[in-house]
Amino acid sequence: MKTQAPPSPRSLKRSLELLKLAERLIPGQSQTFSKAPNQFVRGVSPAFLERAKGSRVWDVDGNEYIDYSMALGPIILGYGDPDVDAAVRKQLEKGAIFSLPSPLEVEVAGLVHETVPCAEMVRFGKNGSDVTTAAVRAARAFTGREKVACCGYHGWQDWYIGTTTRSGGVPKAVRSLTLTFDYNDPPSLERLFKAHKGEIACVILEPVGVVEPKDDFLKEVARITRKNGALLVFDEVVTGFRVSLGGAQEHYGVTPDLACFGKAAANGFPLSIIAGRRDVMLKFNDLFFSSTFGGEALSLAAAAATIRKLKAKKALAQIWRQGEKLRDGFNKLAADAGLEKRLRCIGLPPHTVIQFKDEKGQDSLVMRSVFQQELVKRGILFLVGFNVCWSHDDKDVARTLEACREAIECLAEGDLEDKLEGPCVEAVFRKA
Ligand SMILES: Cc1ncc(COP(=O)(O)O)c(C=O)c1O
Repeated sequence: MKTQAPPSPRSLKRSLELLKLAERLIPGQSQTFSKAPNQFVRGVSPAFLERAKGSRVWDVDGNEYIDYSMALGPIILGYGDPDVDAAVRKQLEKGAIFSLPSPLEVEVAGLVHETVPCAEMVRFGKNGSDVTTAAVRAARAFTGREKVACCGYHGWQDWYIGTTTRSGGVPKAVRSLTLTFDYNDPPSLERLFKAHKGEIACVILEPVGVVEPKDDFLKEVARITRKNGALLVFDEVVTGFRVSLGGAQEHYGVTPDLACFGKAAANGFPLSIIAGRRDVMLKFNDLFFSSTFGGEALSLAAAAATIRKLKAKKALAQIWRQGEKLRDGFNKLAADAGLEKRLRCIGLPPHTVIQFKDEKGQDSLVMRSVFQQELVKRGILFLVGFNVCWSHDDKDVARTLEACREAIECLAEGDLEDKLEGPCVEAVFRKA
């Protein structure tokens, strides 16, 4: 079928004006790499959003989009969820932060304890990086070892980012303490334990990134880790309160010693959580994990309301259903266009990623750019995949799949460089 006439042009005037100002004032023009202008096709995609509700966002020029980034994952119920926002407003009347802990710290710790299998004890941070770093510190203190084995993305702190191509400013001495292994490849972890005998404090991994575990990979990692006297840490910053209420550990039935949560825990308010085994968590009595905003009450009120509503509405079941329709619908469209080898939507339905491959099977940024460009022109804001929230309804899914069909047809026509209406998107970083 022929690609339909492109939708009417939108103005991006204000976005582009702000971008010019930001170039003078803000390095990278964003506080978050994945929201930066080089992650979207400049001149076609908006650069600034100013309003959001449910599954929709509005840019600074008033254009409306169905969003699938969901602020990079935190939005699980929908933007501006009325119950979460009411809980935050009620707390705001009482105060945002106090000179002693708020009772909400105990209440939310109790909710996490009831919900997450490994959570005998609980502490809070603000960003995912706070708690992955806290986990590594606790594991080092508990085991008396210094090295760490990791697999996945774990945030901006030295111990992890030093393993990537964005390691500027990280001392070599720090970099030498973090080792990496490959997902679904237990021998790659065995080799690390063999080469660094008695030195590895913990194994930290995303239990499921986008590739799903095969052949009991998570059980095998747990076995190898424990056999070697190290602690198992699941980085559930993405999977927590998204894949399952109790995280990927509940979904796959493998309980780690420690787990880190963030993103979806408070439907967009800044809260992260480290939870785990009592004897390990008690290390926080001595070591230093402490910050001014650690117990900030608005985010805790948001977390209590979010977790309760996710449970009451059985929201994750609905998120799985919509995510499955998007993933499977997308893959059918790719196959119909004869692109099934180059275009695949993979991952568990609440958080999927689209792989774009060139004819040689290499990741293709130009393909991703054209796809993203064609979606945004049709009112769909897309980064790399579908983060589904409870507010994505059947109409959103149908409209998205129709836009995908047209964008895929455009890819199938070829001449992608010519089709690109702005600069190609760039990779944030690679494994070093
Ligand atoms: C799996 C995982 N861990 C940790 C982090 C770091 O979280 P934050 O950006 O909130 O510091 C992220 C962020 O994307 C993540 O995806």
